[in-house]
Amino acid sequence: MNVILFGPPGSGKGTQANKIVKVFNLHKFSAGDLLREEIKNQTDIGKKIKDTIDKGQFVSDEIMNDLIIKTLTNDKINSRLIFDGYPRNLNQAKNLNTLIKKYGQKISFVFSLNVEKKILIKRLLGREICSNCNLIFNKYYNQSNATNHACDPKFLVKRSDDNENTIASRFETYSKKTLPILSFYREQKLLHDINGKNEIEKIFEEIRAIMAPLQAWLCKLYLYK
Ligand code: AP5
Ligand code: MG
Repeated sequence: MNVILFGPPGSGKGTQANKIVKVFNLHKFSAGDLLREEIKNQTDIGKKIKDTIDKGQFVSDEIMNDLIIKTLTNDKINSRLIFDGYPRNLNQAKNLNTLIKKYGQKISFVFSLNVEKKILIKRLLGREICSNCNLIFNKYYNQSNATNHACDPKFLVKRSDDNENTIASRFETYSKKTLPILSFYREQKLLHDINGKNEIEKIFEEIRAIMAPLQAWLCKLYLYK
């Protein structure tokens, strides 16, 4: 079983992915997080993509393809993947379908988090990420405190692409390139529309209920691996 989380910037893909991973023992493939790691570690890929990400554009499909093949061929985690931020255009979606078949796997659910732009902008401008444990918080909606976060507040950082200019460009890229994927998955009857404006816990409960029938199967797979 593999799961795709789909939605515009700030819709809560990372927040929900962190919760799903924990409860269902899945492994997160977060395209954005992996790319930001490359930048932080100043790798060759990182140096190439920093500018692209700061402009709110997509990195090349070739770079994404290498990352995805590495993940799908890792026996320890494949078939237990939650994709956050991949695929992001029709070419990537078709490529993922081909690779999933090639490696004998399956996509079981695609969740689409729907939230209007005004709320998304406030979420993105208020986002704070813990650079120590990677948990995601928000100074307006979901503040870090002693009960929900064990690390020192000094680790909370903002993302370099969470500024008004880059956000505008990220939305434009999303509308032009990512939205067309929705009908691709709707036609395959994999798509579940989720109201992403609800509270974090309520959204998670909705997703959890949809995934529940596969929980027993996942537990067996986890023990086996
Ligand atoms: P990526 O990191 O994936 O960014 P994104 O798609 O713009 O999405 P975000 O991470 O900003 O938002 P999210 O939906 O994860 O929301 P979050 O949970 O953090 O990609 C970054 C860049 O990398 C791209 O622009 C591109 O350049 C490149 N890239 C990535 N994938 C690529 C690909 N496949 N191909 C090519 N290039 C690629 O939540 C946001 C905030 O809201 C948080 O503060 C959170 O606490 C809060 N929040 C969450 N849910 C709720 C809620 N229900 N109510 C109130 N607040 C909430
Ligand atoms: Mg994210």
